[in-house]
Formats: sequence, structure tokens, C-alpha cells
Amino acid sequence: MNTAEKQLAILLEFGKVINRTKSLDDVLESMANFARDILQADRCSIFVYDKQKDELWSKVAHGTKPIRISTKQGVAGYAALSKETQIVVDAYNDYRFNREVDKATGYLTQTILSVPLLDNQENTIGVFQALNKKDEGIFTNIDAELLLLISNYAASAIENAILYDKLRDTQTKIINKLASAAEFKDQETSKHTKRVGLYSALLAEKYGMCRDDITKIELAAPMHDAGKIGIADKLLLKPGKLDEEEFEMMKTHAQLGHDLLFDDENEYLKTAALIALEHHEKWDGSGYPRGKKGEEISIYGRIVAIADVFDALISVRPYKDAWSFKKAHEHLNKSSGTHFDPVLITLFNENIEKIHAIYQELKD
Ligand code: C2E
Ligand code: SIN
Ligand code: SIN
Ligand code: SIN
Ligand code: FE
Ligand code: FE
Repeated sequence: MNTAEKQLAILLEFGKVINRTKSLDDVLESMANFARDILQADRCSIFVYDKQKDELWSKVAHGTKPIRISTKQGVAGYAALSKETQIVVDAYNDYRFNREVDKATGYLTQTILSVPLLDNQENTIGVFQALNKKDEGIFTNIDAELLLLISNYAASAIENAILYDKLRDTQTKIINKLASAAEFKDQETSKHTKRVGLYSALLAEKYGMCRDDITKIELAAPMHDAGKIGIADKLLLKPGKLDEEEFEMMKTHAQLGHDLLFDDENEYLKTAALIALEHHEKWDGSGYPRGKKGEEISIYGRIVAIADVFDALISVRPYKDAWSFKKAHEHLNKSSGTHFDPVLITLFNENIEKIHAIYQELKD
């Protein structure tokens, strides 16, 4: 194969890999690897531009730890600010070059190819840089064209990731607002909802759930009582015991919460809906609203049931005083196998120090 054919083959392979990989870091890393191979460079780095600080952060950097550089210095900074490709043939005799980076990384830079990553509106979002062309060569205009081509992929991958982050941020905010709305009516603290999230995440982790599911339960568990928005204050704030009819009304908060939160297209809200629906189900089938039993109750519902009751017991409610940590812990064990999944109670017991640390950290 001649050089052009080789480069084409690498590009085709590259297209396949970016379709397979998922996370932004993976995508950028495979882009850096392909750029290195295709340009026959020794190293490549991809920097993301932090506009507020006017700095470039390395997202991928072959052979070194992540670095952060000012845009006011260095070849990468020139590329970021001028939005133009920079080619350096002899770094130590080039005014654009910043020796501090070599000092920090212990690398000897000779040649540099640096191209800006631009978004749709031509704003700089980063820099793609190749260092030291192999065999004492220099980077050419053809290399620059190729790197620009790869950079277009990198720029859109970064842009999508930023958009996705913003979207997730918005979702999280909406979710937390909903949880506080229910809390506000109930005169409970946001610390309660937060603690329920943290206890739940801890149990999920010890149960062996994957990272994504742990994050999901941590964000969704605080909303278990969102349905209390639909319950009259007269009941929620009643200082004494609820009569039978009142308690029947109160029980509707599980289904109400589910219907309020459920969204077929959003994993967090789906989980939140399921938790709202199931958090008062009991292991022996005596809970509500469905009377589900054992593993008919999802793992999310079984976990949050424990976190919620534990936290309700150690908190003040309009109808009850706060119990001691020890008494609440004993209550969970007495209800193991009746109200609660015994496997989860064992995990709770095994991690009681971590539970206590959350309790201490987020005291009312
Ligand atoms: P909540 O206050 O957040 O309580 C959640 C769950 O914690 C309760 O679910 C119950 O399983 C457990 N729990 C709370 N306090 C105690 C307690 O003193 N002893 C025992 N053994 N368990 C306790 P539950 O019973 O399904 O109640 C759901 C919601 O209904 C409660 O949420 C609360 O808002 C309301 N509620 C329940 N009982 C009363 C009551 O007697 N008076 C008033 N005003 N509200 C009540
Ligand atoms: C620079 O952009 O001037 C630093 C180049 C390097 O990473 O060595
Ligand atoms: C809430 O989660 O907003 C209220 C707390 C509770 O009753 O468990
Ligand atoms: C439901 O809440 O009705 C089902 C939610 C789920 O299974 O994720
Ligand atoms: Fe509830
Ligand atoms: Fe609760």
C-alpha cells in the first residue's frame, strides 16, 4: 500500500471505532490514536477550551498526565485564539512555543502540528495537537488537512457531550425541585430526601449494582414521596394518628407519585416512578398499593423502602418524635423478612458505619 492508501485504510477503521465506542473520553482517545498513526506523530493531545478561565485542558494526552495550559502561551494557545492551524518545524527556535510544558512533562518537543476545534458557530472549543513527526520529519500541509478532517469528528463529539451534560443537568434540577416541592408540603428537610438518596446508593453499591444504576437510584430515590404533593395538608401535617379513612387517602401518594413522574423516554424518571410506586410495598406482601411480594418488588423499591423507613424513624414528623439511630437500626432488623428484604438488611448491618457517617454528615 502506498501512503495515501494506508491513510485511507486508517480513516475507514477510525469511522468504525467511533461508531462503536460510547463515552466521550473513549471517542477522543481513539481519535488521538488514529491521528497519531495517520500523521506518524510520536504523540497527540486533545485539549478542551475552558472559556471562563481562558485555559486549555488536555482531555487526552499520550504519555503524560492531564495538563492545563493558558491560551496566552504556547502553540496550542495560538491555535485556539487565532482559530488557525499552526505548524512548527523547530520548537526551541519558535516564538510560539512554550518551554514550560516540556519542563513539566519531561518531553523534548521538536515539531508541532496544532489545529483548532471549532463548533457550528466557529467558536473555539478546543485544540487537537500532534507532536514530533517520526523519523525527524516535519508536519506538512497534507498532515494539517488530515488532522482538520479528524478534528471535525472530535469537535462534534465534544459538542454533543456538552449538550448532553447540560440536558442531564436540567433534568437533575427539575427532579430535585419536584422532590423539594413534596418536602415543603410535608415540612421535611431536603436533608431527608438527600439522605434517602445516599443510603439507597450505598445499598445499591453493596448489592453489586452497576455504576449507572447506582447513580440512577441516588437521583431517583429522593422523589419517592413526590405524590404527597397531591395529599391534603390536613393529613400531612396532622399532629396525631391518622384514622383509617385518612390513611387510605395517604396511601394514594404512591400511585400519584408514579403517575406524576413516569416518562417513557427518560431512564431517571422511569426509575423514579417505579420507586414512588413501590416504596411502601413489603417483603411479605402486606404493603401497598399492589401488595407485591418478595422479588416481585423491584430491587429499587426494596432498597428505597429500607432507606425511607430508616430515615423517617430517625427524623421528627408532625406525628412523631425522632428515634435514636440505635432504635431505628433495631427496628429494621426486627422487620427483616416481614417488611424488608433480609439480604438487604444484612448489607445494611454490614455497612452500618458508612450509614452512620451519612447520618452524621447530614444531620437535621
Ligand atoms: P413518612 O412519615 O415518611 O413515613 C414513611 C414510613 O416510615 C411509614 O410508611 C412507616 O413505614 C415508617 N414509619 C414512620 N414513622 C414510624 C413509626 O413511628 N413507627 C413505625 N413502626 N414506622 C414508622 P407508612 O406507614 O406507609 O406512612 C406513609 C406516610 O403516611 C408517612 O410518611 C406519613 O407522611 C404518613 N403517616 C403515616 N402514619 C401517620 C400518622 O399516624 N399521622 C400522620 N399525620 N401521618 C402519618
Ligand atoms: C505548546 O503548545 O507550546 C506546547 C507544546 C507541547 O505540548 O510540548
Ligand atoms: C419527601 O421525600 O419529600 C418526604 C419525605 C418522606 O416522607 O419520606
Ligand atoms: C412503571 O413504572 O409502570 C414501570 C417502570 C419501569 O418498569 O421502568
Ligand atoms: Fe411514602
Ligand atoms: Fe419518605
